[in-house]
Amino acid sequence: MKLIVAVARDWGIGYKGDLLFRVPLDMEFFRDTTLNKVVVMGRKTLESLPGGRPLKNRTNIVLTRDRNFQREGCIIVHSKEELFEEIKKYKEEDVFLIGGGKLYNDLYPYCSEAYITKFDAILEADTYLHNFDEDKDWLLTYASEVHEHEGLKFTFNTYKNLSLANLA
Ligand SMILES: NC(=O)c1ccc[n+]([C@@H]2O[C@H](COP(=O)([O-])OP(=O)(O)OC[C@H]3O[C@@H](n4cnc5c(N)ncnc54)[C@H](OP(=O)(O)O)[C@@H]3O)[C@@H](O)[C@H]2O)c1
Repeated sequence: MKLIVAVARDWGIGYKGDLLFRVPLDMEFFRDTTLNKVVVMGRKTLESLPGGRPLKNRTNIVLTRDRNFQREGCIIVHSKEELFEEIKKYKEEDVFLIGGGKLYNDLYPYCSEAYITKFDAILEADTYLHNFDEDKDWLLTYASEVHEHEGLKFTFNTYKNLSLANLA
């Protein structure tokens, strides 16, 4: 499983159930990376999508503890263990953890790679990601050139999980 996320300079990722940044090039990157693949998300992130509907042209897996929860077009799992069983059906590199805060921070140790778009700004946030720059298990293997949208600078970055690489 891989992780894909957009962060502010202080690793903020969300505020009041919404994203901090909506920049076309980053949204395009997210779409191109996950299209026809498998996306894994928490129930709250599903609710934050337009109409609370799953992402089109992707297999959507949603985690919730609510045994009665159902949503058209979604595969529902109720624990990390159920999730790990479900994703065995797919190629490891085709499964993307897409949020939100709770899921990223619980599941990043199980991810082999992280695609992190870093925005050079700090906005009010109530949800934060683990700081990958301060984690010796994660190595920055790629940083793009600096892009800019309406004065907002950002880069695309790839981190590799060395603890998983060592196990392989
Ligand atoms: N910057 C980005 O790239 C990005 C991406 C995605 C989301 N976000 C932001 O992140 C925020 C949402 O994050 P969040 O932490 O509030 O919610 P979340 O991680 O999307 O969802 C949390 C929910 O997932 C379910 N869950 C979590 N762990 C579980 C487990 N072990 N077993 C079963 N169910 C489990 C629970 O659902 P139930 O309550 O139904 O049991 C829990 O309430 C929003 O602001 C969103 O915009 C940012």
